[in-house]
Amino acid sequence: MSLAWDPERYLAYADERGRPFLDLVGRIAAVDPQVVVDLGCGPGNLTSLLADRWPAAAITGVDSSDAMIRAASDSSAAERVVFHRADLRDWLATVGPGRVDVLVSNATLQWLPEHLDLVPALVGAVKPGGWLAFQVPGNHDQPSHTLRAELAAQAPYAAHTAGVAAPHAHDATTYLRALQALGCEVDAWETTYLHVLVGEDPVFTWVSGTGARPTLQALPDDLRPAFEDELKARLRRAYPDDGRGVVLPFRRVFVVARTSVRD
Ligand SMILES: C[S@@+](CC[C@H](N)C(=O)[O-])C[C@H]1O[C@@H](n2cnc3c(N)ncnc32)[C@H](O)[C@@H]1O
Repeated sequence: MSLAWDPERYLAYADERGRPFLDLVGRIAAVDPQVVVDLGCGPGNLTSLLADRWPAAAITGVDSSDAMIRAASDSSAAERVVFHRADLRDWLATVGPGRVDVLVSNATLQWLPEHLDLVPALVGAVKPGGWLAFQVPGNHDQPSHTLRAELAAQAPYAAHTAGVAAPHAHDATTYLRALQALGCEVDAWETTYLHVLVGEDPVFTWVSGTGARPTLQALPDDLRPAFEDELKARLRRAYPDDGRGVVLPFRRVFVVARTSVRD
């Protein structure tokens, strides 16, 4: 079964999901880059901010999802960004060394369990003195993830959900050390955002657009409603609404690396 992203559902919290991108890109000091690439560009709304920042650059958004690339290509971002459907690992294998001035990947690498092994290829794609910037969630130990995993491991769901993709990331120091070892200057940090979400079961709506998506899609139609109802109930208990909105603390890990000019 192929796992599909739903751009509309993902964009339900576009503002909250966009802020880390701005915080990430704000630490890239490139002045006049020529080639800028966004790996895992999703629906392209954030990639277009790269075109605002560097209007003279050739900007490419790469994503493996048909639905995301279709949404991006149909959006106004396509006037300034070339969108390209590819697995980022294939893109890295073919881009050639030192081709990119600024390489960005926001909220994507956590979907590749082996992404620490990709760090040399990510750095290798960047020109000497260029920039690699990525952000990954650092909240996989939080109820928004653990409640889904616990429920999915129970009967009758476990038979369908065993082995489904689950996001995974490392702490900031791990990335910092890996990039230093490749000669980069590294700026790494963490931020916990307190998102105030409103509406019915807003934490469920949030996770169903990202981390819980593979689990929900792995369940057969006759089991999914009961799973969703139980997950919503557990999430309501973990993230209560006192009438002022539900607070979802969301820790994120940021890494901005400048590649070595010596080569
Ligand atoms: C959480 S979304 C982030 C989208 C966008 N960067 C943003 O910040 O809004 C993750 C994106 O990564 C893409 N993705 C996941 N694995 C990928 C891979 N191996 N190669 C390319 N894109 C991938 C998904 O299709 C999805 O659009």
